[in-house]
Order: sequence, then C-alpha cells, then structure tokens
Amino acid sequence: MPTVVMEAEKVKKLASRKLKDAGLNDDHAEKVAEVLIHADLRNVNSHGVLRTKHYVDRLKAGGINPDAQTSFNMTGPVTGIVNGDDGFGHVVGDTAIKHAIDMARQNGVGMVTVINSSHCGALSYFVQKAAEANLIGIAMTHTDKVVVPFGGSSPFFGTNPIAYGVPAKNNKPFILDMATSNVALGKVLQAREEGKDIPSGWGVDENGAPVTDPNKVVSLSPFGGPKGYGLAVIVDIFSGLLAGAAFGPHISKMYDDLDQKRKLGHYFCVINPSFFTDADTFLKQMDTMMDEIKQVPPAPGVKRVFVPGEIEQIHEENNKRNGIRIASSVYEYLTGEIENESYTN
Ligand SMILES: NC(=O)c1ccc[n+]([C@@H]2O[C@H](COP(=O)([O-])OP(=O)(O)OC[C@H]3O[C@@H](n4cnc5c(N)ncnc54)[C@H](O)[C@@H]3O)[C@@H](O)[C@H]2O)c1
Repeated sequence: MPTVVMEAEKVKKLASRKLKDAGLNDDHAEKVAEVLIHADLRNVNSHGVLRTKHYVDRLKAGGINPDAQTSFNMTGPVTGIVNGDDGFGHVVGDTAIKHAIDMARQNGVGMVTVINSSHCGALSYFVQKAAEANLIGIAMTHTDKVVVPFGGSSPFFGTNPIAYGVPAKNNKPFILDMATSNVALGKVLQAREEGKDIPSGWGVDENGAPVTDPNKVVSLSPFGGPKGYGLAVIVDIFSGLLAGAAFGPHISKMYDDLDQKRKLGHYFCVINPSFFTDADTFLKQMDTMMDEIKQVPPAPGVKRVFVPGEIEQIHEENNKRNGIRIASSVYEYLTGEIENESYTN
C-alpha cells in the first residue's frame, strides 16, 4: 500500500480543516483531529485520520451534531452523566474524562457515564489524560455488532474496547488499550487483500466455525474465548446499560444510516491513588514493577518483554521526530484531491 510520511502537526491541520469545511465548529474540529493524531502517532492508524472521510460523510448526512452543547449532570460526589448532544465522541469523551478527573482529585474517585455520543476513537487518549494527572483512568465504549458471543454463530457484540492508564514516577504511564475481539476487522480485510491465510481464532463463518480463509469470515471471535466474550458483555453493561444506552445488536451501525444520530454510550472512571495509599510510593512501585517486567528474559524468537502501551509509546516518540505514515489515498482525501473515495475499515 503506497504511503506518505508527513509531520503530525500538518496532518492534524488537514484533518481539522476537512471537518470544519463539513460544518463542524472550530473547537470540536481541533479536538477530533487531536484525538486522531494521537492514534496515528502511536501507529494505531485504524483509529487515526483514516476515519476523517467517514466522519465528514456522517456530518454532511446529519448523523452528528456539528454544534453539540455537551452538558454535565453531577449526580453525587463522585458520579455524573455527560450528555453528548449527539456530537463527536472524541469531544464528548474529553469532557467526560475531565469531569471524572476533577471528582477524583476532590473525592478520590470520579465515575462518569456518557449518553448521546458517537464514535470516540482510540480510548488510550482519555486514560492517558488521567495518567498525566497522576491518576488511574479506565474507559470503555460499546460499538456495533461484529463479534460472536463465545460458542455463537452470529454477531452480537461490537469490538467493545476497554482501556486502563496508570501513572508511574519516571516511566511513561502503563496504557492497556484493547478491543475485546481477537483482532480488528481491518486485519481480516488486509489479509483478504494480500491473499494470505489468517490464524484460526480471528474469525468464524456463517455457522460459527473458525476459519483460516479470510474471505470466509462473517464475524469476529472474542479474544481468549469465554474470557474476552465476558469482558465484551461487561463493556456493554458499563457503557451501554449503565448509561441508559443500547446494547449489542441494538446499537446503531457505524457505516449505515449516516443520517441517524448514533446515541452511543461510554464509561469513564478515574481513581486517585492518594485516597488509598501513599501516592509517591505508588508511583515509584509502578516504576519498579514495570522495570522488573521488562527484565524478564525473553522467550526464544522474542527480542524483549514490553509492558502494555510501551510499543505505542516508542512509535509515538519516533513519529513525533520523523512524521507519521498515512496511506496515500488518505493523504489525497485530506488534501482534497479526491472527494468520493470511501474508507470503511
Ligand atoms: N472507539 C471505538 O469504538 C473502538 C472500538 C474498537 C477499538 N478501538 C481502539 O482500537 C485501538 C486498537 O485496539 P486493539 O485491540 O487492536 O489493540 P492491540 O491489539 O494492537 O493492542 C492491545 C494492547 O496490547 C498491548 N500490546 C500489544 N503488543 C504487546 C506486547 N508485545 N507486549 C505488551 N503489550 C502489548 C498494546 O500496548 C495495547 O495496550 C485501541 O485504541 C482501541 O481503543 C476503538
């Protein structure tokens, strides 16, 4: 696939300009672009500027409110609900994590559910905000169905990601940010394009049988069998039911009904370590634990052991220096050279 390498700041400007041109207010366009670039910097390109075209299409069709007035209803000392007013999930999630951080600073914990939102991108963005404030962040969002429940033959859950961010004293934060499907659909589509087999366990056919031919994949499989499936249910409970939003097959489609508001839910929780233990000791212990993990001798064929989030952080450092790599087709879309191409993975 032909690619272009470009300074992150320049790509961010292109993406925000595209969104503004489609009617999104300036502040929201800047925030969405910031979250997309966060993902591209970490080489999580599936959730980077690749998505701009889809967002623009949804904006133009009326499926996202370009001037959303996000509001916060504090329902208790450590709880609250953000109403996203059908705006961009990136903006709504940013508002929600800020409120959760404020409550955790004051009262030890902050827990916020979100209603009337839309796709929010890479969850690492939000939990990193908490970790940068020396707090622990947790984020979850439900998504539309593509994953079978363990043992099932048809999709029920989305890729339902869950993320944790934990600060350390000198190390970069621990960031675990993972879908509860074994892989993203994009990886199956890529194997299709490349004519390669996929490992058994990535996806199933229409009967629920595991397949290695990517062309036969109808639904994805949860990671870790019943364990990943169980976590997908948890994500739907916390970000769907607890938020008063839909679950599983009732969640609106990302790539269909572009003129309809998606009404998605999210869940954010922030924990202040100083309400539980000596905060400085906690941060130092995080360093010690992460350093000791990295010293575990690698298995044959493995270079070294990483802690979750570390690989993405290494990419981020490199990409900040050298630029981010995006598909040429995405670059052409962002620079306005093609208007009608569709990017749907
Ligand atoms: N908003 C949405 O609707 C939505 C839906 C699904 C996924 N997503 C996003 O997609 C992104 C990608 O998710 P994913 O599940 O494909 O991620 P992934 O499988 O690439 O990584 C999952 C986690 O494993 C860690 N990891 C990977 N290799 C490792 C190694 N060798 N050693 C230690 N840790 C390692 C990563 O740091 C990461 O925390 C995430 O940002 C997620 O939030 C968003």
